[in-house]
Amino acid sequence: MTELLACPGMSGEIWPDSAGIPINAHGGGILKEGNLFYWYGEHKVAGKRGNLAWVGVHVYISDDLVHWRDAGIAFDIRDGGPLRPGCVIERPKVVRNPAGKFVMWFHLERDCTYSDARQAVAVADRPEGPFRLLWHGRPNPGVWPQNTPPELKEPARIEAACREMPTLPYDANPLTPQLSVLGMDLETGQQSRDMTVFVDDDRTAYVVYASEKNSTIHLAELDGGYTGFTGRYWRLFPWRWMEAPVLFKRNGKYYFIGSGCTGWAPNAARSAVAERLTGPWTELGNPAVDAGGDTTYGAQGTFALQLAPDQIIFMADRWNPENAIDGRYLWLPVEWNGERPILKAPV
Ligand code: GAL
Repeated sequence: MTELLACPGMSGEIWPDSAGIPINAHGGGILKEGNLFYWYGEHKVAGKRGNLAWVGVHVYISDDLVHWRDAGIAFDIRDGGPLRPGCVIERPKVVRNPAGKFVMWFHLERDCTYSDARQAVAVADRPEGPFRLLWHGRPNPGVWPQNTPPELKEPARIEAACREMPTLPYDANPLTPQLSVLGMDLETGQQSRDMTVFVDDDRTAYVVYASEKNSTIHLAELDGGYTGFTGRYWRLFPWRWMEAPVLFKRNGKYYFIGSGCTGWAPNAARSAVAERLTGPWTELGNPAVDAGGDTTYGAQGTFALQLAPDQIIFMADRWNPENAIDGRYLWLPVEWNGERPILKAPV
């Protein structure tokens, strides 16, 4: 594991693919199929405009996690399909469903205001694609979470949120407990931005996303094909303002690592543990314990790659919003202090 992670690309150096071109797969995730790893991520272009999506989702293939072959654009938005270049496609994650199809979920904004707050799902017969868009929208319109606090159903709070919220920028961090963002968005479906997909041992899959103006994480159960929501979802970490969710399981317990909400600028991560995915969750503090840990070593999490029960790689991005294509990668082994996940500084 330590030897594997000695690859300079995993600690923020330029990481060339097998053709010598820097790997372009940001906010990514990895699917293992047989002996091969497929790394999917946002294809960025140069400059600030590279923070928007002009191409789609890039995929690379490797058998050792160090050497990656460019397998092209797995989900392409340049083909005149329903998503237009200049939209926002973030944090793509691919899983294989029980029927053997490949299912990609990602955060979608159809413009750059981040007010759309949608998820999108695309499917393919082969892991390298081409992925075809199936649906995009907000999760579970008209449905309350399984664990809704009764006060959030109060008409006065919902009405106040409908009146006040639209006047605030999306990252205004209002005093959410006083306003029911949840109730405000009930009819349209809940806001969903930074996300990941987690498949449990029983093969039930979930999309986990930052909701309620990024104040609260939601865990939404997927149907048997992993392409739609079942209507069952839960609020986790209410009003803790976390995004960039990363989940993994070890010795029967669930672990969560998320970031704070400071846009592209890195901040201190937070970790948590639970006996059940739906909670209750216990926060365990900042997992990044070394100097530089207050910014997660300049990075923000995107995915946990579990190679063996106790071999987990925390994948993160060092964003470069001024020149998006030059964002770098930070992959760290998850270490343990008892039951607490630990991320040490890259060497
Ligand atoms: C980050 C988020 C990214 C992107 C960015 C936009 O906090 O993790 O995925 O949404 O904000 O400012």
